Amino acid sequence: MKKLHIGIIGLGTVGSGVVKALRRRRHLIRERSGVDLQLVLACDARRGQGARLGITGSSFTTRAKDVIEDEKIEVVVELIGGMRPAKDIIIQALNKGKHVVTANKALLAQDMPELLSVARRRHRQLKFEGSVCGGIPIIKALREGLLVNRIESLYGIINGTSNYLLSKMSQESLSFAEALARAKKKGYAERHARFDIEGIDAAHKLVVLSYLLFAKHVPFESVVREGISGIKEMDVRYARDMGCVIKPLAIAKKFGKDLEVRVHPTLLPEDHMLAAVNGVFNAVLLRGDMVGDMLFYGRGAGTFPTTSAVVSDLVDLARGELPGQPLLAARPSVRRIRKTDEIRSRYYLRFMAIDKPGVFAKISGVLGRYHIGIAQVNQKERKRAKFVPVVMITHDAQEKDLRRALEAIDRLAIIKGKTVKIRMEDF
Ligand SMILES: NC(=O)c1ccc[n+]([C@@H]2O[C@H](COP(=O)([O-])OP(=O)(O)OC[C@H]3O[C@@H](n4cnc5c(N)ncnc54)[C@H](OP(=O)(O)O)[C@@H]3O)[C@@H](O)[C@H]2O)c1
Repeated sequence: MKKLHIGIIGLGTVGSGVVKALRRRRHLIRERSGVDLQLVLACDARRGQGARLGITGSSFTTRAKDVIEDEKIEVVVELIGGMRPAKDIIIQALNKGKHVVTANKALLAQDMPELLSVARRRHRQLKFEGSVCGGIPIIKALREGLLVNRIESLYGIINGTSNYLLSKMSQESLSFAEALARAKKKGYAERHARFDIEGIDAAHKLVVLSYLLFAKHVPFESVVREGISGIKEMDVRYARDMGCVIKPLAIAKKFGKDLEVRVHPTLLPEDHMLAAVNGVFNAVLLRGDMVGDMLFYGRGAGTFPTTSAVVSDLVDLARGELPGQPLLAARPSVRRIRKTDEIRSRYYLRFMAIDKPGVFAKISGVLGRYHIGIAQVNQKERKRAKFVPVVMITHDAQEKDLRRALEAIDRLAIIKGKTVKIRMEDF
């Protein structure tokens, strides 16, 4: 039976799951795959992490160097996260002739081309199924099952925490702060909640997926990114009144040789498949030119879903699959990343406007000047306050025009605060 000797660095949320799976499922893995995954050495900065998992003596070290330099180890699994020393560990391991498995989306989003190029030079593989969508085997599906397709677009709910927050706001009428407190209590929002709420985590994953799909590295700063903290419970409610839900969507869409890459709250029709993805669940909707639409759904994070992805990478390595092209395409299929101003979309707008006759005419006048047509208007909660919400849905418009129109509208004396703008997706 083929054997693979493994060293793991990082025994936290994911690493501890991988250790447990390699031990408890060793026979199952052998039976199903015909390979024997042997954990040789585990490393964590804290000795207690090893002891907690029953890894002691010469099977445990606190120094990553020991794993990288162990001659017997064929694959290093990097699960410490962060930029440094994770990047050094991966490069050193590849240079030592080892394959690497990682789930480090933040590092991949920044340095994937460099890391893959080191792997290529060393004739080793860098595998990263666990870095996007946890338990959903999206990378494997793309690289193998969908290989013959040209992928034109990807729409994903790829951050479970932000999806949980918006789901709770919608289903239980919670405010953003209440939903966040609930998420923290349940352990869905932790130390880096800002990464989830501001769309940073989803942008990292989208950069990885875009590179995989289009062989084009999208710099993180080029992702059009908006977080969900500006969404109020009333927006969720008004969206529902109009037959829509608000979802934290990641979008990569091709327009010829141009690519739009964005992460932001998005209004979707409530009968769309992605509208039914609630709680911490993830989903990715892909459109391939041969296969048509495909929806992947599952848990996007957590110990065992991510473990499932990491072990699948290890089995592939043990089976000695031919490395081939680590991305879907050998050369970039897009040339240019579109800028925010170039987006065309319909928009949900919520103005806080003074409750007087003539207000609507003023707002629509400015929108008209910038070629923005109004498809629907709702004025809510009249006479309860001096400023009342006025909600509009626009026809398809150019973001540059909308930006200018809103700058002008927000300067009007009849308007209070910054107008809330949410892009819509009609599919
Ligand atoms: N958690 C998830 O659900 C999930 C899902 C998908 C992908 N990922 C990715 O998987 C990776 C690991 O995430 P995680 O949630 O498992 O992280 P975690 O719980 O923070 O675990 C990381 C572990 O590595 C240790 N460590 C840090 N620096 C080290 C070093 N230089 N040498 C040895 N040990 C070191 C940490 O110790 P200290 O605590 O003492 O620093 C900690 O025990 C990250 O890249 C993350 O983005 C996580």
